[in-house]
Amino acid sequence: MRPPCGSLFPLIILKKTRRFHLFVPANSSETVKDLLKRHAITHEVLLANPNELIEMQTRNDSTDPRSSSTFYERYHSLEDVCFKYQILATQRLNRDNPDTVKVILIGSSFEKRPLYVLKLSVNNRPNKKAMWIDCGIHAREWISPAFCLWFVQYSLSFYQSNKDITHILDNMDVYILPVLNPDGYHYTWTTNRMWRKNRSTNMSTKCVGVDLNRNFDANWCTEGASDHPCSEIYCGAFPESEPETQAVADFLRSHKDIVQIYFSIHSYSQMLLFPYSCTLEEAENHSELLEMVKEAAQKIQRHYRNIYKYGSGANTIYLAPGGSDDWAYKLGIKYSFTFELQDRGRYGFLLPPSDISKACNEALLAVKTIALKVDAKTQAPTTPA
Ligand code: ARG
Ligand code: ZN
Repeated sequence: MRPPCGSLFPLIILKKTRRFHLFVPANSSETVKDLLKRHAITHEVLLANPNELIEMQTRNDSTDPRSSSTFYERYHSLEDVCFKYQILATQRLNRDNPDTVKVILIGSSFEKRPLYVLKLSVNNRPNKKAMWIDCGIHAREWISPAFCLWFVQYSLSFYQSNKDITHILDNMDVYILPVLNPDGYHYTWTTNRMWRKNRSTNMSTKCVGVDLNRNFDANWCTEGASDHPCSEIYCGAFPESEPETQAVADFLRSHKDIVQIYFSIHSYSQMLLFPYSCTLEEAENHSELLEMVKEAAQKIQRHYRNIYKYGSGANTIYLAPGGSDDWAYKLGIKYSFTFELQDRGRYGFLLPPSDISKACNEALLAVKTIALKVDAKTQAPTTPA
């Protein structure tokens, strides 16, 4: 979610009433504290020892017999995630359909890692619509890929026992891209846990990476993005300059007639957002989208006693052009959403593994609520197969 302030310059423009989260390298924390004090800016240290948390997140306790957590209640390296795809591809939801889970290669990353989409499909009904979910566009938001895998596992486990997921899968296929930014994700596991962008390099600069959620063709690189390669919100050299962006955009362009719902999963800050983020203008079906996220937020509050803000991106969070949700919306996918999952800043990107299940169940409830609403609105009379 919030791009960290790379330099101290933004401190000058802070609004008096707003809270900001700064990520400060341990060796400059005293300097920063001094500076804040000198400018009479109150502060509190949220995470004094992030290394401990990082260790907890990367510990693989699957071999520990005392551990009761399942695969889906832990964070996983890219290798483990990839290995999981192979296992998932062998699963089926009903006897008649051996191809329930298909793994589709949609392109490759800058460092040539494969971009895999999982397709869940329980029947071959004609004119079937589809829903798309992508996760992990920002490398450090680990709860996001965890959610995509959670969704797949939930679908496989509860199809035919939970009526909502059964209804959804009976009526639409689901395309899931669990790690949109594999190079960045890998880098957060090996080198820098706080990395956000992809890992593309360019002859003209020493700085690495493009913010993939500023690289789509939706008011590209206007206010809320940066054309400076060293910025955390660098928009890239041109729209879709990045292979990851291009792969997603190409796939959605070629499936735009069937995909009617688009979800992009981020963290943190607990928000259910819809277009636009690239302008303050209202989307044409603003009130319909608002109704949907409102109902989803209310359900989360009722079931999990947790508060999610909701609204259009630009009005709820900040102006952020070049985002995938706005681009998908402009492509014609009129039900387009970005979710910011847990938490609200206590742990931020370093959400402990023990919080994965609640964070994912909340997001799942929101996805189901919205998918059911869209399905009810758009249900075309079905032709018997
Ligand atoms: N935290 C997300 C980002 O900065 C917000 C995404 C909202 N949607 C958007 N198109 N910017 O990318
Ligand atoms: Zn994000």
